Amino acid sequence: MKRIPFHNREREIKEVMNILEAEPSLITFIHGPINSGKTTMVSHLIEQLPEEYVVFYINLRGRFISDYRDFIKVLFKIEKEKNNKEILKTISEISAETLKFSGIPVAESIMNALFKEKSYEDVFEFLEEYFTTIAKNKRPVLILDELQVIGDLKINGLLMYKLFNFFIRLTKELHLCHIFAVSSDSLFIEQVYSEAMLQGRSRHLLVDDFNEVETMDFLDKHNFSDDEKIVAWNYCGGKPICLVELVNYENREEKSQEMLMLRTGEINQRIKVLKIVNKKILFEGEEIELKYENVIKILDGFSDEASYAYEMITPEIAYLVKENILFVDSIRGIIKPQSRLELLAIREVMKNV
Ligand SMILES: Nc1ncnc2c1ncn2[C@@H]1O[C@H](COP(=O)(O)OP(=O)(O)O)[C@@H](O)[C@H]1O
Ligand SMILES: [Mg+2]
Repeated sequence: MKRIPFHNREREIKEVMNILEAEPSLITFIHGPINSGKTTMVSHLIEQLPEEYVVFYINLRGRFISDYRDFIKVLFKIEKEKNNKEILKTISEISAETLKFSGIPVAESIMNALFKEKSYEDVFEFLEEYFTTIAKNKRPVLILDELQVIGDLKINGLLMYKLFNFFIRLTKELHLCHIFAVSSDSLFIEQVYSEAMLQGRSRHLLVDDFNEVETMDFLDKHNFSDDEKIVAWNYCGGKPICLVELVNYENREEKSQEMLMLRTGEINQRIKVLKIVNKKILFEGEEIELKYENVIKILDGFSDEASYAYEMITPEIAYLVKENILFVDSIRGIIKPQSRLELLAIREVMKNV
């Protein structure tokens, strides 16, 4: 396997840098289809930041969070043999490098106290003080990747609301800390987008698959021939993970066809099963039965178009998003397959319905 160096993302990085250079004032949501390169872009950007920034990057992917204790565990990290004053002094005063943390470092005694408190107000109060201290000398940045993991978590009410309120305080009210929330879950982003409490307090940044120019540039870097470039663009579009996969194969056309066949089979199964099973989906708090015909109608819209405007999110659209087949871009009001490969697979499936 070749190691693939980071490619492009100039536009998106510039946009984030502009945000970071200004005073924190809004919460930034970074969204986009699955595997479009959001995490990669954020990780790369963290490495490039000037030393006045202190980054707390917390990835919730694969973390199991079911209660207050779990939440505290992902948010904080114990720094052994130091008290909190020493920790904060180190963070604020080291200036030779950009500090990056995968959890907010605290003393063991603080962690124990937070576990005991069991109240968000105390956690948020503590964090506000923490960021205030750091912000005297540095510019704190808090990034939560895969935030939807705690989207439905209820601990004395919906945690997400409390978290958003706290984020609004850190940005719009106190201008203390930059906040980025990253998510591939477009239904979650759709909810966030229509959330009244976030109106005028958040912005949305799309990190989509590469466009054609960026893709050709990537393929040139990896010495694809003209024919191979056509194959890659036709099957993968600008989906980074798919292009990376092709880099590692000798016979790129064969590999592309194999990927398409595999995905066609999977989608076919997800769709056709609705003919024989009365599947239900939790939608707006209600258990709604999915209608096969509606699913087909939605997919049929992709026979001639790669994306189209939707009127409202129906249970069937929600199902197709949950199955990672479709992506809802609520900011632009369109739905589209998660990738070019997905689009081709949908068209294959639609040939036999
Ligand atoms: N800018 C890039 N340059 C090179 N490879 C990339 C880039 N962005 C994404 N990739 C590849 O695609 C994979 C999926 O990207 P990732 O950042 O995990 O997507 P997301 O977080 O949007 O789901 C990465 O593991 C990497 O191999
Ligand atoms: Mg990611």
